[in-house]
Amino acid sequence: MISVVVLISGSGSNLRALLEATSAVDYPAHVVAIGADREADGLGHASDFGIPSFDVPYTSFSSREEWGEELAEQLRAWNADLIVLSGLMRLLPESVVDEFGPRIINTHPAYLPEFPGAHGVRDALASGASETGASVIVVDNGVDTGPILAQERVPVLPDDTEASLHERIKPVERRLLIDAVRRVATGELDLTTPA
Ligand code: GAR
Repeated sequence: MISVVVLISGSGSNLRALLEATSAVDYPAHVVAIGADREADGLGHASDFGIPSFDVPYTSFSSREEWGEELAEQLRAWNADLIVLSGLMRLLPESVVDEFGPRIINTHPAYLPEFPGAHGVRDALASGASETGASVIVVDNGVDTGPILAQERVPVLPDDTEASLHERIKPVERRLLIDAVRRVATGELDLTTPA
Protein backbone atom coordinates (compact mmCIF):
# COMPACT_ATOMS: atom_id res chain seq x y z
CA MET A 1 0.00 0.00 0.00
CA ILE A 2 1.53 3.31 -1.04
CA SER A 3 0.76 6.71 0.43
CA VAL A 4 -0.23 9.63 -1.79
CA VAL A 5 -0.46 13.40 -1.33
CA VAL A 6 -2.73 15.13 -3.86
CA LEU A 7 -2.31 18.80 -4.78
CA ILE A 8 -5.19 20.77 -6.31
CA SER A 9 -6.25 24.30 -7.21
CA GLY A 10 -9.90 23.95 -8.14
CA SER A 11 -13.02 21.90 -7.63
CA GLY A 12 -11.10 18.66 -7.24
CA SER A 13 -13.54 16.47 -9.17
CA ASN A 14 -10.71 14.23 -10.34
CA LEU A 15 -9.37 14.13 -6.79
CA ARG A 16 -12.80 13.01 -5.58
CA ALA A 17 -12.82 10.16 -8.10
CA LEU A 18 -9.39 9.08 -6.84
CA LEU A 19 -10.61 9.24 -3.24
CA GLU A 20 -13.59 7.06 -4.17
CA ALA A 21 -11.26 4.57 -5.85
CA THR A 22 -8.98 4.45 -2.81
CA SER A 23 -11.99 3.54 -0.65
CA ALA A 24 -12.09 0.10 -2.27
CA VAL A 25 -10.42 -2.46 -0.01
CA ASP A 26 -8.32 -3.85 -2.83
CA TYR A 27 -7.01 -0.52 -4.14
CA PRO A 28 -3.27 -0.43 -3.34
CA ALA A 29 -2.89 3.29 -2.51
CA HIS A 30 -4.32 5.64 0.09
CA VAL A 31 -4.39 9.44 0.18
CA VAL A 32 -2.74 10.74 3.35
CA ALA A 33 -3.19 14.48 2.72
CA ILE A 34 -4.61 16.97 0.24
CA GLY A 35 -2.94 20.30 -0.39
CA ALA A 36 -3.77 23.39 -2.41
CA ASP A 37 -2.15 26.61 -3.56
CA ARG A 38 -5.27 28.61 -2.65
CA GLU A 39 -8.56 28.24 -0.79
CA ALA A 40 -9.68 25.63 -3.31
CA ASP A 41 -13.27 24.37 -3.24
CA GLY A 42 -11.88 20.87 -3.67
CA LEU A 43 -10.41 20.90 -0.17
CA GLY A 44 -13.96 20.12 0.93
CA HIS A 45 -13.46 16.57 -0.36
CA ALA A 46 -10.74 16.13 2.27
CA SER A 47 -13.19 16.65 5.12
CA ASP A 48 -15.79 14.42 3.40
CA PHE A 49 -13.26 11.59 3.43
CA GLY A 50 -11.70 12.43 6.83
CA ILE A 51 -8.34 13.26 5.27
CA PRO A 52 -6.09 16.08 6.52
CA SER A 53 -5.64 19.06 4.24
CA PHE A 54 -3.25 21.99 3.96
CA ASP A 55 -3.20 25.21 2.03
CA VAL A 56 -0.02 27.00 0.94
CA PRO A 57 -1.46 30.15 -0.70
CA TYR A 58 0.75 31.12 -3.62
CA THR A 59 -0.19 34.79 -3.34
CA SER A 60 1.12 34.97 0.24
CA PHE A 61 4.70 34.48 -0.93
CA SER A 62 6.93 36.91 -2.78
CA SER A 63 8.34 34.35 -5.20
CA ARG A 64 7.66 30.91 -6.64
CA GLU A 65 10.80 29.70 -4.82
CA GLU A 66 9.55 30.87 -1.42
CA TRP A 67 6.17 29.29 -2.05
CA GLY A 68 7.95 26.12 -3.07
CA GLU A 69 9.99 26.06 0.14
CA GLU A 70 6.83 26.08 2.25
CA LEU A 71 5.16 23.52 0.00
CA ALA A 72 8.25 21.30 0.30
CA GLU A 73 8.02 21.55 4.12
CA GLN A 74 4.49 20.21 3.96
CA LEU A 75 5.42 17.46 1.52
CA ARG A 76 8.37 16.41 3.67
CA ALA A 77 6.11 16.18 6.71
CA TRP A 78 3.77 13.77 4.89
CA ASN A 79 6.63 11.76 3.44
CA ALA A 80 4.36 10.22 0.82
CA ASP A 81 5.43 7.64 -1.72
CA LEU A 82 3.73 9.58 -4.52
CA ILE A 83 2.59 13.17 -5.13
CA VAL A 84 -0.31 13.65 -7.55
CA LEU A 85 -0.96 17.03 -9.17
CA SER A 86 -4.67 16.87 -9.91
CA GLY A 87 -5.54 20.26 -11.31
CA LEU A 88 -2.76 22.15 -9.53
CA MET A 89 -2.59 25.27 -11.71
CA ARG A 90 0.95 26.29 -10.74
CA LEU A 91 4.35 25.31 -12.02
CA LEU A 92 6.36 23.75 -9.23
CA PRO A 93 9.74 25.41 -8.71
CA GLU A 94 12.75 23.37 -9.79
CA SER A 95 13.81 22.87 -6.17
CA VAL A 96 10.58 20.94 -5.48
CA VAL A 97 10.77 18.86 -8.66
CA ASP A 98 14.42 18.09 -7.97
CA GLU A 99 13.72 17.01 -4.38
CA PHE A 100 10.55 14.95 -4.91
CA GLY A 101 10.84 13.86 -8.53
CA PRO A 102 10.31 11.46 -10.17
CA ARG A 103 7.62 10.64 -7.61
CA ILE A 104 5.37 13.49 -8.85
CA ILE A 105 2.73 12.81 -11.51
CA ASN A 106 0.31 15.21 -13.19
CA THR A 107 -2.96 14.90 -15.06
CA HIS A 108 -3.43 17.06 -18.12
CA PRO A 109 -6.57 17.60 -20.23
CA ALA A 110 -4.91 17.12 -23.64
CA TYR A 111 -3.00 14.50 -25.58
CA LEU A 112 0.54 15.64 -24.76
CA PRO A 113 2.80 16.87 -26.23
CA GLU A 114 -0.15 18.58 -27.93
CA PHE A 115 -1.57 21.59 -26.07
CA PRO A 116 0.59 21.83 -22.93
CA GLY A 117 0.11 24.55 -20.33
CA ALA A 118 -2.72 26.06 -18.36
CA HIS A 119 -5.28 26.14 -21.19
CA GLY A 120 -5.05 22.71 -22.75
CA VAL A 121 -8.76 22.43 -23.50
CA ARG A 122 -9.17 25.98 -24.79
CA ASP A 123 -6.08 25.67 -27.01
CA ALA A 124 -7.29 22.37 -28.52
CA LEU A 125 -10.66 23.91 -29.33
CA ALA A 126 -9.09 27.06 -30.81
CA SER A 127 -6.80 24.98 -33.05
CA GLY A 128 -9.74 23.39 -34.81
CA ALA A 129 -8.40 19.89 -34.04
CA SER A 130 -10.91 17.08 -34.47
CA GLU A 131 -9.57 15.26 -31.44
CA THR A 132 -7.69 16.01 -28.25
CA GLY A 133 -7.30 13.80 -25.20
CA ALA A 134 -6.10 13.28 -21.66
CA SER A 135 -2.65 12.42 -20.34
CA VAL A 136 -0.94 11.39 -17.12
CA ILE A 137 2.74 12.30 -17.02
CA VAL A 138 5.73 12.35 -14.71
CA VAL A 139 6.51 15.93 -13.72
CA ASP A 140 9.85 17.32 -14.82
CA ASN A 141 11.12 20.88 -14.94
CA GLY A 142 9.41 21.72 -18.23
CA VAL A 143 5.79 22.67 -18.83
CA ASP A 144 4.02 19.32 -19.30
CA THR A 145 7.12 17.81 -20.92
CA GLY A 146 7.71 14.84 -18.61
CA PRO A 147 7.51 11.18 -19.61
CA ILE A 148 4.00 10.07 -20.54
CA LEU A 149 2.57 7.30 -18.34
CA ALA A 150 -0.87 7.02 -19.95
CA GLN A 151 -2.96 8.86 -22.49
CA GLU A 152 -6.14 8.47 -24.47
CA ARG A 153 -7.84 10.33 -27.30
CA VAL A 154 -11.11 12.24 -26.87
CA PRO A 155 -13.00 13.53 -29.95
CA VAL A 156 -13.82 17.22 -30.30
CA LEU A 157 -17.48 17.56 -31.33
CA PRO A 158 -18.62 20.29 -33.76
CA ASP A 159 -20.64 22.23 -31.17
CA ASP A 160 -18.26 21.75 -28.25
CA THR A 161 -17.56 24.62 -25.89
CA GLU A 162 -14.49 24.67 -23.64
CA ALA A 163 -16.73 23.56 -20.77
CA SER A 164 -18.47 20.71 -22.63
CA LEU A 165 -15.19 19.39 -24.02
CA HIS A 166 -13.52 19.57 -20.61
CA GLU A 167 -16.43 17.69 -19.01
CA ARG A 168 -15.97 14.88 -21.58
CA ILE A 169 -12.21 14.77 -21.03
CA LYS A 170 -12.38 14.61 -17.24
CA PRO A 171 -13.91 11.10 -16.95
CA VAL A 172 -11.07 9.85 -19.18
CA GLU A 173 -8.50 11.64 -17.01
CA ARG A 174 -10.02 10.06 -13.90
CA ARG A 175 -9.83 6.58 -15.32
CA LEU A 176 -6.22 7.09 -16.47
CA LEU A 177 -5.20 8.62 -13.14
CA ILE A 178 -6.77 5.91 -11.00
CA ASP A 179 -5.14 3.26 -13.16
CA ALA A 180 -1.74 5.00 -13.18
CA VAL A 181 -1.69 5.33 -9.37
CA ARG A 182 -2.66 1.66 -9.08
CA ARG A 183 0.13 0.64 -11.45
CA VAL A 184 2.69 2.76 -9.57
CA ALA A 185 1.53 1.15 -6.32
CA THR A 186 1.84 -2.39 -7.63
CA GLY A 187 5.24 -1.69 -9.17
CA GLU A 188 3.91 -2.28 -12.67
CA LEU A 189 4.96 1.31 -13.44
CA ASP A 190 8.45 2.26 -12.38
CA LEU A 191 8.67 6.06 -12.31
CA THR A 192 12.41 5.97 -12.64
CA THR A 193 12.11 4.26 -16.04
CA PRO A 194 8.63 5.12 -17.43
CA ALA A 195 7.42 3.26 -20.51
C1 GAR B 1 -8.28 18.74 -14.82
O1 GAR B 1 -8.82 18.64 -16.11
C2 GAR B 1 -6.77 18.74 -14.89
O2 GAR B 1 -6.25 17.95 -15.89
C3 GAR B 1 -6.51 20.19 -15.19
O3 GAR B 1 -7.36 20.86 -14.32
C4 GAR B 1 -8.57 20.10 -14.20
C5 GAR B 1 -8.93 19.99 -12.75
O4 GAR B 1 -10.26 19.61 -12.63
N1 GAR B 1 -5.13 20.51 -15.00
C6 GAR B 1 -4.45 21.29 -15.84
O5 GAR B 1 -4.94 21.85 -16.79
C7 GAR B 1 -2.99 21.44 -15.51
N2 GAR B 1 -2.29 22.05 -16.58
P1 GAR B 1 -10.88 19.23 -11.20
O6 GAR B 1 -10.45 20.33 -10.22
O7 GAR B 1 -12.35 19.22 -11.43
O8 GAR B 1 -10.34 17.89 -10.83
